Amino acid sequence: MSTLTTDVLVIGSGPAGASAALFLATHGVDHIVITKYRWTANTPRAHITNQRTVEILRDLGIEDDVLAQGTPQDLMGDTVFCTSLTGDEIGRVRTWGTHPARRADYTLASPSSNCDLPQTLLEPILIGHAAERGSRVRFDTEYLGLEQDDDGVTVTVRDRLSGHTYPIRAKYVIGADGGRSQVAKDVGLPFEGQMDLAGSMNIVFHADLSRLVEHRPSVLYWVLQPGSDIGGIGMGLVRMVRPWDEWLIVWGYDISGPPPAVDDAMATKIVHDLVGDDTIPVTIRSTSLWGNNKMYATRYRAGRVFCAGDAVHRHPPSNGLGSNTSIQDSYNLAWKLAMVLKGQAGPGLLDSYDAERAPIGKQIVLRANKSIEEFGPIFEALGFTESDDAAEKVANMRARAENTPKAAEQRIALRKALELKDYEFNAHGVELGQRYDSGAVVTDGTPEPEYTRDPELFYHPTTWPGARLPHCWLGAGDAKVSTHDLAGKGRFALLTGISGEDWVAAAETAAAKLGVEIATYVIGAGRDHIDLYDDWSRLREVDESGCVLVRPDAHVGWRAWSLPADPAGDLTSALAQLLDRT
Ligand code: FDA
Repeated sequence: MSTLTTDVLVIGSGPAGASAALFLATHGVDHIVITKYRWTANTPRAHITNQRTVEILRDLGIEDDVLAQGTPQDLMGDTVFCTSLTGDEIGRVRTWGTHPARRADYTLASPSSNCDLPQTLLEPILIGHAAERGSRVRFDTEYLGLEQDDDGVTVTVRDRLSGHTYPIRAKYVIGADGGRSQVAKDVGLPFEGQMDLAGSMNIVFHADLSRLVEHRPSVLYWVLQPGSDIGGIGMGLVRMVRPWDEWLIVWGYDISGPPPAVDDAMATKIVHDLVGDDTIPVTIRSTSLWGNNKMYATRYRAGRVFCAGDAVHRHPPSNGLGSNTSIQDSYNLAWKLAMVLKGQAGPGLLDSYDAERAPIGKQIVLRANKSIEEFGPIFEALGFTESDDAAEKVANMRARAENTPKAAEQRIALRKALELKDYEFNAHGVELGQRYDSGAVVTDGTPEPEYTRDPELFYHPTTWPGARLPHCWLGAGDAKVSTHDLAGKGRFALLTGISGEDWVAAAETAAAKLGVEIATYVIGAGRDHIDLYDDWSRLREVDESGCVLVRPDAHVGWRAWSLPADPAGDLTSALAQLLDRT
């Protein structure tokens, strides 16, 4: 029997693997996906789908599918801290950009809105479109091991239905096999940090909680019940899966002891305790245990094997960054693999994958863990840290309602502590502000622009090479299109103004010389794209005669401040450098 061969073998069909398949299929790259189980995720783990991810899915033409199934931003934001869903409300934080003062930041920054889409619904959308566009997907197929040589990788897999073991030969492999990645282990990726710092259990259940939450719609309800667990703070999370009858509770357990056996009775009791009403009918759907990690790979590549997603960054769900970052890893890698495989780029382009993504992985692992630590000031303000006695903690928490100077101080401390949670729930800069520094970014010699506001909370648009292309609306006939709609689609885009019209011919010359596609856009009066509100002229930073060269992943690859003497020469040499074609 001849060996199965392909250009790219994707291992895993989670957010990283399924999106990698979709991107590769859209770029027309021959590939196979293998995945261990019979179908996609069986529990709704990831859900917050941030603007960067939605605009990537917009580029893929599937934004409408995501928004149709997701819970909209308007219903995501009244995040509650309480003693139970029927109990005392400790405070609320407006989250995921829903504060009126933050809405403008989100609306101005992207053509896309964030939404809440459980992983159980997102993965079938990704893998479904991937298969429709040409992915060959093999479920019930387990990765066992690999060997690589100068020309490719031979991967051994097992068909879990028949037990049959067979090889697949690929030019490149993407290891997207999650937080316990065997691929990352087998190729020896270096990691920093620690796994399993704390234990959590997920309880997925059906219960109609509308009357308790509809007046304060959110995806997250944090419940503080000192004494309800042993040794811990007694904090649980009631998380909306579908409004308002499907839910997931995250509850802690002591990871140093034996894993708890969670039966339906125990799960129902936890649900009733956190809801605060044991008469509410509850149907337990599933329970599972997982560990909180603080670990990231410092390199994402070993030869022809690239890892993406939780395989290389492992962290708690805080900030909702896991699935988002996994999809963004694959988006970064797929166009590079496509161009190298099509002979449009040299192999050096692939080095830019971990140069660009490993710093992001480290950033989000540290951010998510810091967000956990930042619950500390809330516990402190509530007086939890003053005592080991659960009854005393409850009394300290209640004391904040008293008319005493101490309680007034407590209330101020609590407000400040809740404001600190903006770094978890409104970290717009972390979500959108990624700036790359690698061989696939050609500098224009200018220093990195300063952050004028907090870089984690606020996104700072810039066309500085390496940054994400700023969004604004342009007029195109009767329609409004985003600058992001001009970019993407697997090709380069060049944006200029009327006095930079010579860039169009320059781009044709560069494209012909290097055999790549460059879509050109002259933005200005009387042209196909009009700068409706003058937003682009404010955002582009370069002169009207300059240009911004955008990579297929909507990050700026290079820019010119004005029209040079030899635009074709300058553009060709920048693009050749970016593509490792010098
Ligand atoms: P993932 O683990 O999802 O997928 C791994 C894939 O590899 C699976 O398809 C599996 O079958 C396959 N596989 C494994 N071993 C294999 C083998 N040997 N052979 C073949 N296939 C194999 N993130 C986020 O962005 N927003 C959020 O709101 C949340 N919320 C959240 C809540 C909770 C409770 C948890 C536990 C997690 C989150 N996350 C999150 C994190 C998110 O779930 C996580 O980051 C992504 O699932 C990671 O996607 P990957 O594709 O990398 O791995």
